[in-house]
Amino acid sequence: MLKVDLSGASSFFDAAGPDFAAAAAAHRTLAERSGAGSDFTGWLDLPQKVKAGELRQVLAAASHIRGRSETLVVVGIGGSYLGAKGAIELLRPRPQSGDPKIIFAGNSMSPDALMGLLEELGETDFDINVISKSGTTLEPALAFRMFRGLLEAKYGPDRAKKRIIATTDAKRGVLKTMANEEGWETFIVPDDVGGRYSVLSPVGLLPMAAAGIDVSTVIDAAIEAFAAMDQRSPENPAWQYAAARQHLYRLGKSIEILACYEPSFRFMAEWWKQLYGESEGKNGIGIYPASVEYNADLHSMGQYVQDGPRTLMETVVSFEKPQNEFTVPFAMGDPDQLNYLAGRKLSDISRVAQEAVKAAHIAGGVPNMEVRVEKRDEVGFAQLVAFFELACGISGYMSGVNPFDQPGVEAYKKNMFRLLEKPGAV
Ligand code: PA5
Repeated sequence: MLKVDLSGASSFFDAAGPDFAAAAAAHRTLAERSGAGSDFTGWLDLPQKVKAGELRQVLAAASHIRGRSETLVVVGIGGSYLGAKGAIELLRPRPQSGDPKIIFAGNSMSPDALMGLLEELGETDFDINVISKSGTTLEPALAFRMFRGLLEAKYGPDRAKKRIIATTDAKRGVLKTMANEEGWETFIVPDDVGGRYSVLSPVGLLPMAAAGIDVSTVIDAAIEAFAAMDQRSPENPAWQYAAARQHLYRLGKSIEILACYEPSFRFMAEWWKQLYGESEGKNGIGIYPASVEYNADLHSMGQYVQDGPRTLMETVVSFEKPQNEFTVPFAMGDPDQLNYLAGRKLSDISRVAQEAVKAAHIAGGVPNMEVRVEKRDEVGFAQLVAFFELACGISGYMSGVNPFDQPGVEAYKKNMFRLLEKPGAV
C-alpha cells in the first residue's frame, strides 16, 4: 500500500506539529457526508458502484472501439479529460499492438492545435467519446461539432451514430438531449461526483480501457485503497499528507510543488493540480499547486527551488520498482570518465540522485514529503487516485473551504458568453 514519508518535513514543523485532531474531524465530516458540498462526495464509494454497475458496459464499449477504430478522439476539458490523459500517459505511454491512438480534443480553442489533431487523426478509422458533465462547456462543444462533422462525412450520418459515445449528466444538458435524439450510446457522470473527482467513473475509465489499461484491476485496487485509507489514525497516509501540508501552509509555505522522477507522470501532475487548485483555492486562501518534472526541471526550476523565495514545500511521488533496468556499460579507455559508474544499475544511480536532491532542498529550506507507491501500474495508479482524492477532501475541510465547488471558474464564462453575444447571456 502507498506510504507517506514526512521525515524530510518534520524539521520544519513547529512544536504543535501537524494537527491530526483536525484531520480526524475533517475525515469524519467527509465520511458522514455532513460538511459543505457533501452532495458531491459520491466519489468516496464510486469504485464499488462502478464495479456493480457500469464497468461491464465500459469494457464492452472499449472492446468495440478497439475492434473497429485506430483512433479514439476524446473530447473534454478539465475533469472531463485530465484523469484519463494522466492515466494513459502514466500506464500506456506508447500504444501497444492493437491499441488505438487516443487523442484529446476540446481542451483549447487554438485553431493551430486543432489542425495538429486533425493531422494526427489523418485517414484513420475513428470513434468519438465526447465527455461533458454539464453538456454545455464551450471548448469541448466546439471541438465536438467539428469532429462529429468529420465523422459524418466519413461514415455517413447513420454509421456515424454508432461511433459516438457521450459521457454526460443523467438528465440535464444539451449533450444529453442530443444523445437521446440521435441514439448515441451514453454513460452517466453521477450527480454526486464533480468533474475533478470523476476519473474512476466512465469519464476516465472508458478512454483508459480503450487505450488498453486494465480498468477492472484499477477498480478493484481503488476499492481496496479507499477501504485501507478509511483507517482513523495518524497512520493514515491521507491524514499525514493533509495535516502536514496544512501545517506547512500555516508556517508560510504557500506553494506546493509536486515532483516525480518519471516523465510519464507529467499529466498525473496536471490532474493533481486541478484537483487541489479547484478544491482549495477559494475565499482568498489555498496552497498554490505547481508541478515539476525531475530530473529535467532540476536543470531549470531547480535554481528557484533551491534558492528562490522560501515559500515552497515539495511533494515527491516515487515508484519503488522500475519496470525496466539498465546497467551502465564499461567503456575501454574511459573516454567520458563514467567508468566509476560502470556496472551500476540506472535505477540505483537515480535513487542516489533523488537522495541528493532531497537533502539539498531540505538544506535550502524546502520541506520534503514523499508519497511512495510500489509500481507504476494499475494498482499504483488506483492507490494514488484514492489517496490524493481523500487527502484533498480532508485537507479542504481542514482549511475551512468547501472542497467540492468551483464558483471561481464561472466568472470567465460569464464574460466570454456576453462578449460572444450568446443568446440570453448578460
Ligand atoms: O472539475 C470540474 O468540475 C471542472 O473542471 C469540469 O470538469 C470542467 O469545467 C468541464 O466541465 P464539463 O464536464 O461540464 O464540460
